[in-house]
Amino acid sequence: MAAAGAVVMLSGLLLPFLLAVASGEPPISRRSFPEGFIFGTASSSYQYEGGAAEGGRGPSIWDTFTHQHPDKIADRSNGDVAADSYHLYKEDVRIMKDMGMDAYRFSISWTRILPNGSLSGGINKEGITYYNNLINELLLKGVQPFVTLFHWDSPQALEDKYNGFLSPNIINDYRDYAEVCFKVFGDRVKHWITFNEPLSYCVVGYASGTFAPGRCSPWEQGNCSVGDSGREPYTACHHQLLAHAEAVRLYKEKYQVLQKGKIGITLVSNWFIPLSRSKSSIDAAKRALDFMLGWFMDPLIRGEYPLSMRELVGSRLPQFTREQSGLIKGAFDFIGLNYYTSNYAGSLPPSNGLNNSYNTDARANLTAVRNGVPIGPQAASPWLFIYPQGFRELVLYVKEKYGNPTIYITENGVDEFNNKTLPLQEALKDDTRIEYYHKHLLSLLSAIRDGANVKGYFAWSLLDNFEWSNGYTVRFGINYVDYNDGEKRYPKKSAHWFKEFLQK
Ligand SMILES: *[C@@H]1O[C@H](CO)[C@@H](O)[C@H](O)[C@H]1NC(C)=O
Ligand SMILES: *[C@@H]1O[C@H](CO)[C@@H](O)[C@H](O)[C@H]1NC(C)=O
Ligand SMILES: *[C@@H]1O[C@H](CO)[C@@H](O)[C@H](O)[C@H]1NC(C)=O
Ligand SMILES: *[C@@H]1O[C@H](CO)[C@@H](O)[C@H](O)[C@H]1NC(C)=O
Ligand SMILES: *[C@@H]1O[C@H](CO)[C@@H](O)[C@H](O)[C@H]1NC(C)=O
Repeated sequence: MAAAGAVVMLSGLLLPFLLAVASGEPPISRRSFPEGFIFGTASSSYQYEGGAAEGGRGPSIWDTFTHQHPDKIADRSNGDVAADSYHLYKEDVRIMKDMGMDAYRFSISWTRILPNGSLSGGINKEGITYYNNLINELLLKGVQPFVTLFHWDSPQALEDKYNGFLSPNIINDYRDYAEVCFKVFGDRVKHWITFNEPLSYCVVGYASGTFAPGRCSPWEQGNCSVGDSGREPYTACHHQLLAHAEAVRLYKEKYQVLQKGKIGITLVSNWFIPLSRSKSSIDAAKRALDFMLGWFMDPLIRGEYPLSMRELVGSRLPQFTREQSGLIKGAFDFIGLNYYTSNYAGSLPPSNGLNNSYNTDARANLTAVRNGVPIGPQAASPWLFIYPQGFRELVLYVKEKYGNPTIYITENGVDEFNNKTLPLQEALKDDTRIEYYHKHLLSLLSAIRDGANVKGYFAWSLLDNFEWSNGYTVRFGINYVDYNDGEKRYPKKSAHWFKEFLQK
């Protein structure tokens, strides 16, 4: 404790210097951004809450996955306790307030509200009380809640009943769940996010098979016992898009006029740079964007999947009926955009046509290294190469290609190795994170100055938390969480950086 205190004071003194010259970049502060621009941090229920078996919460597919296959998570950890925000939410809100954050993006655990997934299984009053307490604490401290309804922890009961998102039955259950949330929290929640990163849920859960529910074809990475990597990712995300559209229709028809909130969806995309100047590389980069971002943005803007996907995936890609197409087109007030990294994209020849997978359908060879040179410094996660310019490019691409929608950056961040033998004082020195945020905020600002309609920015994340990782363990937090010491939180250097950034 004392040692941590000394670090705090020291970096406090150093801050003005750091803000101006970290990595030789121009200085930046919240004043550089438009009036009313919102800064916050983002989290998700399974990664933060803990209290997994407390307060009447029902099991989600992530509880099942981590308990039945502890080997699927590098350090065999799970979200049973996580950052313990179920008990320590007041401390979390205090930290946010102290840092000067305007907003907090968190997700609601579906099975804390409906333990059985469906309304017929009953509403869990204790779950409602927990989120009421959290929301009220935030508002008391002047922090706006941005609420995600689904961040991958779908109800195990619905998985057992009809295979979860592989079945269209999920659309009604999701809509019922969303309606409970609108009804009980909507007087105070003014920003709703229906789904977080459908892409990650569908691709890693159903094509690679390394996330819950752990389904994939036999040759894929996840060594799954069941699945079809060439079909199921598309089916699951088709149903997420339809569930999204139904929830948006419901909110707009029944709640929006009275509650005056906004509703959107959060998508993740990398930026893709052609591996060479050849036409085949340029086309591969376009396909990569279609398969990562266009998969969702095209239906939301134009009511249909991108042409490249329809051509390459063929009959394995579900189709929207005319009615569904009309329902999904324009079904958002804002787009949440998550950006972490960029890749090169080169062209790949068609695969053998037997081993179909989302992972090969785009015929794009995605790589972070060209002629032996990485696109940017590598962070702790093997997929995370630091490339701030890609942030500006991605945001401007959305502006140009999709009619300049209102955007909130709902995640952006970088990780370090979770080195358990590193002394606390060392673990708090996260200069790479400061440089990452500084450069990414400059890159975002430049996109805003070029006309992108971005209204807010959420850093992932306030605290170190449970990581979904397979094969490596990392820390993404601006504040260190000591899992062995009563779940204590310690500000990293970047916490002081943010505080300074937000106070200026
Ligand atoms: C939860 O769902 C299962 C399967 O659909 C059902 O058998 C069970 O009775 C439900 N539990 C409650 C409390 O309704
Ligand atoms: C794949 O799964 C099977 C059955 O669950 C298991 O016996 C085997 O060890 C796994 N293989 C690898 C490489 O993880
Ligand atoms: C294609 O699938 C078959 C059957 O599962 C498998 O034996 C083979 O290794 C796979 N080929 C490739 C290139 O992954
Ligand atoms: C993908 O691109 C990398 C980098 O140029 C190259 O080393 C690799 O061989 C390519 N992979 C395939 C399957 O073409
Ligand atoms: C973890 O930290 C210890 C102590 O500083 C250091 O000796 C070790 O190399 C680190 N391990 C890794 C994987 O970075």
